[in-house]
Amino acid sequence: MDTKIRSWFFLYVLLPLLFFSKSHLSTAAEILSLGQVLSGDQTISSKGGIFELGFFTPGNSKNYYIGIWYKQFPEYVVWVANRETPLSNKTSSVLRVNQDGNLVLLNQLNRMVWSTTISLIASNSTAAELLDTGNLVLRDGSNSSVVIWQSFDYPTDTWLPKGQLGRNKITGERQRLTSWKNSEDPAPGVFSLELDPSGINQFVLMWNRSKIYGQSGVWKGQYFSSIPGMAADQPNKMFLVETQNKTYAIYEFLDNTSMTRGVMDPLGQIQLCTLLLSSQTSSCFWSMPTSRCEIYSYCSSFAICTQPQSTLASCSCLHGFEPGSQKDWNSSIWSGGCKRRTPLQCGGNTSVDAEKDGFFVMRNVLLPGNQRSLMTVRSTKECELYCLNNCSCTAYAYDSSCSVWNGDLINLKQMLDGNVGGGDLYLHLAAIDLQVPLSEKNKGMGSLGKRNLERLGQEEFAFFPCWAAEKIVEDEVLSLLDCRLDGITNFEDLRRASRVACWCIQYSENDRPSIELVV
Ligand SMILES: *[C@@H]1O[C@H](CO)[C@@H](O)[C@H](O)[C@H]1NC(C)=O
Ligand SMILES: *[C@@H]1O[C@H](CO)[C@@H](O)[C@H](O)[C@H]1NC(C)=O
Ligand SMILES: *[C@@H]1O[C@H](CO)[C@@H](O)[C@H](O)[C@H]1NC(C)=O
Ligand SMILES: *[C@@H]1O[C@H](CO)[C@@H](O)[C@H](O)[C@H]1NC(C)=O
Ligand SMILES: *[C@@H]1O[C@H](CO)[C@@H](O)[C@H](O)[C@H]1NC(C)=O
Ligand SMILES: *[C@@H]1O[C@H](CO)[C@@H](O)[C@H](O)[C@H]1NC(C)=O
Ligand SMILES: *[C@@H]1O[C@H](CO)[C@@H](O)[C@H](O)[C@H]1NC(C)=O
Ligand SMILES: *[C@@H]1O[C@H](CO)[C@@H](O)[C@H](O)[C@H]1NC(C)=O
Ligand SMILES: *[C@@H]1O[C@H](CO)[C@@H](O)[C@H](O)[C@H]1NC(C)=O
Repeated sequence: MDTKIRSWFFLYVLLPLLFFSKSHLSTAAEILSLGQVLSGDQTISSKGGIFELGFFTPGNSKNYYIGIWYKQFPEYVVWVANRETPLSNKTSSVLRVNQDGNLVLLNQLNRMVWSTTISLIASNSTAAELLDTGNLVLRDGSNSSVVIWQSFDYPTDTWLPKGQLGRNKITGERQRLTSWKNSEDPAPGVFSLELDPSGINQFVLMWNRSKIYGQSGVWKGQYFSSIPGMAADQPNKMFLVETQNKTYAIYEFLDNTSMTRGVMDPLGQIQLCTLLLSSQTSSCFWSMPTSRCEIYSYCSSFAICTQPQSTLASCSCLHGFEPGSQKDWNSSIWSGGCKRRTPLQCGGNTSVDAEKDGFFVMRNVLLPGNQRSLMTVRSTKECELYCLNNCSCTAYAYDSSCSVWNGDLINLKQMLDGNVGGGDLYLHLAAIDLQVPLSEKNKGMGSLGKRNLERLGQEEFAFFPCWAAEKIVEDEVLSLLDCRLDGITNFEDLRRASRVACWCIQYSENDRPSIELVV
């Protein structure tokens, strides 16, 4: 062996073996000191036996992570070290305190996959200790009251009592709870909870660290204004602390018969849950937002959120759209969203026989918030025309002003009868997708009967003169629209509109309203 190979051999083969043979942890240790390693099924426990640290594998995943969990409830993991760098073999991976004082995690190839990454640790011996609060601390070996690093400063998705969640006023750094990607992957997901970046003393829920979809309301001394129940919540006491350099919230837990935790769940709700020690059960008693339909992009694109009961929420593809993945959709995994069945024509085909794109009306929906308002457009007709002729326009709505949506439609929510704040959304579809299947028609979905639907959009804008005629009798427009959209409910209006009878002329024989109905 030449020296290079020999040193390689020493470093990668003998050195780990040395550690293994010399310094396996004794069971029930609470401290990991220099020279000790944690590997395989070994764990360290907090002094009172409340928390445990070791390798775990979530659900049916094949990956291993270093995590902290409740010793009595191992399924509730409260912290993960290597959430983005999973390991494939726990018996050949080790957690140890490095010579430089850092706590490090090495994989089977002895490569570092995670570290506390503190530079310039003064002391040459440090030790990691798991506390009964669930906090993993790295202490100075020569003065154990000096904490060099603690897991509470780097929360994953769980906020434990006595843990701080706040921002550093000097560096601007913020601690946030970030959801797991899903129940089997602790990698950071799109949802997070943090103090409002604008500096207001409130917590906000964020999607992809950019869109706020929930707010706690401002701090009122004992509670956040949108969570008034908090003030009366006896076992949990929250404080908002302002120091020279930091603002943070911290909560205490005063009942020793159960344990509380706040969790940013993979679907986007922040939940407060307790573990009842006597009955060994877990329950979540509070969540924000209350309804999953309010979670940003909950149904992803081109789907609508419906909420038959207060806590349940499910997604359906919009008319003319189908799930990106039917398999996911069947399992209530909505993240793939829905895709258009038939591409839009968008006025591209001017052949007289071409079937024009049209609009499907969705009644009483909470409109997506990212619309463009077209200030110069003064009528529904004009608004519709704009959308019809623009391929990137996916929908429009007209409520005294014209709003159009481009690209993906997200955050649509079906309102219930009696809910306020909803509106009608006109969805841009290819002609062939405008047909309403019997099943939907009977359910009243989309609210448009087949006859009305087929006439929508395929008509007047193809005949510019008719549109002009309409402009002349602008006061009639609304009644005309009622005629078209709400079914033939008002024959009087229709008759008055007969001056612009060309409206009801259709290219296709089938699309023409039956004359008995009109007259
Ligand atoms: C994990 O590593 C150990 C020790 O190197 C080895 O015996 C075992 O076969 C490995 N397991 C897997 C699944 O690779
Ligand atoms: C650690 O520091 C102590 C005192 O500062 C010193 O005596 C000891 O040799 C050092 N150990 C190592 C491994 O550097
Ligand atoms: C240990 O550190 C604490 C906090 O910094 C300090 O107050 C104390 O004097 C130190 N003790 C020793 C023995 O150095
Ligand atoms: C989240 O934001 C980043 C930019 O900050 C962007 O690149 C990424 O595509 C966004 N993720 C999603 C799912 O939209
Ligand atoms: C606040 O930050 C300044 C500058 O970094 C530092 O000198 C001071 O000790 C800090 N104060 C506290 C209370 O940590
Ligand atoms: C809970 O606290 C009460 C009073 O503070 C004490 O008597 C009791 O032993 C504690 N129970 C446990 C399980 O620690
Ligand atoms: C999804 O569910 C439907 C109805 O239950 C079923 O017909 C279909 O085969 C399922 N598709 C997949 C990919 O699981
Ligand atoms: C235009 O539409 C007509 C009738 O649907 C069709 O026959 C023709 O192929 C289309 N032309 C183009 C360029 O798509
Ligand atoms: C279509 O809409 C997009 C986005 O509003 C706009 O940039 C584009 O100019 C429009 N195209 C036409 C032909 O009006």
